[in-house]
Amino acid sequence: MHRYLYGLMFEDISHSGDGGLYAELITNRAFQGYSGNFILPSENPLVPGGPVLTGWAPLGDVRLSLDILHPLSDALPTVLQVDIPVNATGEVGFINYGWWGMDISPQKYKASFYVLANYPRYKGNSTTFTVSLRSNLTGEVWARTELPTVKVDTLDYIQLNATISNESRAPNSNNTFAVTMDASEVAGQTFYFDLISLFPETFKDRPNGLRKDLANALYDMKPKFLRFPGGNNLEGVSPQTRWKWWKTIGPLKNRPGRSIANWNYANTDGLGLLEYLEWTEDMEIEPVLAVYSGFSLDIWGEDGASYPESRMHEVLQEALDELEYCTGPTTTKYGALRASHGHPTPFKIQFVEIGNEDWFSSTYPHRFYYLYNGLKAAYPEITLISTAYNENADYNISIPTGGMWDTHHYEEPHYFLENFDFYDNWQQATNNTDVGVLLGEYSVKQLDSPDGAVNWSAPGLPLPQMVSAIAEGVYALGGERNPNTVRMSSYAPSLQNLNWYNWVPDMIAFTADPAQTLLSASYWQQWLFARFRGAQTLPVTNTKGDFGPLFWASSVNREDTEVYLKVINAGATAVPLSVVLDVEIRGVNATVIVNVDENAENTEDEMKVVVPKVANVTQARERRWSWNVPAWSIVVVQFDV
Ligand code: AHR
Repeated sequence: MHRYLYGLMFEDISHSGDGGLYAELITNRAFQGYSGNFILPSENPLVPGGPVLTGWAPLGDVRLSLDILHPLSDALPTVLQVDIPVNATGEVGFINYGWWGMDISPQKYKASFYVLANYPRYKGNSTTFTVSLRSNLTGEVWARTELPTVKVDTLDYIQLNATISNESRAPNSNNTFAVTMDASEVAGQTFYFDLISLFPETFKDRPNGLRKDLANALYDMKPKFLRFPGGNNLEGVSPQTRWKWWKTIGPLKNRPGRSIANWNYANTDGLGLLEYLEWTEDMEIEPVLAVYSGFSLDIWGEDGASYPESRMHEVLQEALDELEYCTGPTTTKYGALRASHGHPTPFKIQFVEIGNEDWFSSTYPHRFYYLYNGLKAAYPEITLISTAYNENADYNISIPTGGMWDTHHYEEPHYFLENFDFYDNWQQATNNTDVGVLLGEYSVKQLDSPDGAVNWSAPGLPLPQMVSAIAEGVYALGGERNPNTVRMSSYAPSLQNLNWYNWVPDMIAFTADPAQTLLSASYWQQWLFARFRGAQTLPVTNTKGDFGPLFWASSVNREDTEVYLKVINAGATAVPLSVVLDVEIRGVNATVIVNVDENAENTEDEMKVVVPKVANVTQARERRWSWNVPAWSIVVVQFDV
């Protein structure tokens, strides 16, 4: 079995990043643009790209509006204007509702914001700001921190930081974050605020890091790689609005984000290139960096928007600079830039993908070979991954020796069962025994239908079902049987915010409340297979019948002490199984995901309907072991040898 076989695919889709894995609790923190139809639909017209006040509300006697005359930076030109009337009294300020709420639990929160005073209205006095966590239902204050009194400048923004040590556990996630002042100090004045931020404790304590419970769920799968940043979100809907690596790095104040990102909501790019790399570092996994390949989806064009061959040198240079930022020593221009961003140690990049799903485009041949040759010349040791392979009737991409092909499958269950053996003779058929495969995105999109193919005008399954996990597991077994060919695989999409999403089904669904994080049947299948990952695939001789309804693959650990047998029963009746090993079996354990109902699923109300459990199995006799594999089950048997 290939050592990188099971991994993760991530892009910001369905608020998986902003409002999801990126731990920032403040929604629309820098007024960067339209973020979907949420919180207050009536105040949020469907005008993509426009800065909005979505997520913010006044507290006390103040008026909130957006201002563009006092930009925080070129990247963040829109700020929050807070006018306090002359006769205001008591507490005045504003609140933020979070990403459909915010979880408040005992921990230290880090708050920060930039503030500027309006020149003619400023009275020159000092101001005391307070940050607090509150219930949106009752107004109860869970925790508050009063900042040291400051003189706010009228010429330059100052950044204020505070830690909120909270000891309360709010009963639900309907909470807010407030920045307040005392009207006795600020009545009659106007202030501008921007980049108002609140972070809980993060995964491995990374500043600007990942939401702990979601990151832990991913880490717990023992993934081996992370492919990022897309997906379609890399390509963007146009060359102008695509993901541009150099705009996702450095101080947050200098990151413009994308008001029109691919998936119909604004991306802050707070989770930017360096944060992705640090994610791989913190999970000790291999980065699979997808670089822009000169193609954007362009919603109006049949074939997208492509760079012509005459301009591909620009696209290549962009990718080379990006790789220098990731891997260059600090003596290089971009390596030094990375160091100035807090990470002097270069990252190691072994896999680079050239684009995403370029089979949609007739121009991939000139783009692919240009980038392949240019990248290979500069980084001969990096494995380059093509997103197309002899797929389009109009052209052939013949992947050079040592390269890989990323193939994507959103299918009905039968597809995965029928393609269990697809990779058995794939290398021979393609006349290249040293081209590998990345099953970069796959999942059961819809249940089997009479036409046998996914209907893209119909919605997908809301949640993965038992049958999804079975079908995806069978496909994964096809990969395990062919370790020289299938080197990596990852379910997609990985994360879905249940409050706003544009793709189903997903491996993990969540809300602001960590107690509601829903690990699906598909998640558990991936979890189980990745945990029992042998170092080497073992040959299995089958003496009775062919594959189906039982499918299997076997491997052995590096020490030759544990043999794993993965078996899936994709049928409605139990099947007797007899196994004979070449060596004596000293002990048997099995973990099983099973449900007699093929449509069983984990839901918000019942989260543990389809989960792995230790199975009660018979013990072996010398080299022999027998068991009845339950209907609709995914089983991993561990033989101690
Ligand atoms: O996973 C969702 C989308 O599906 C990805 O962005 C794209 O690569 C594929 O078409």
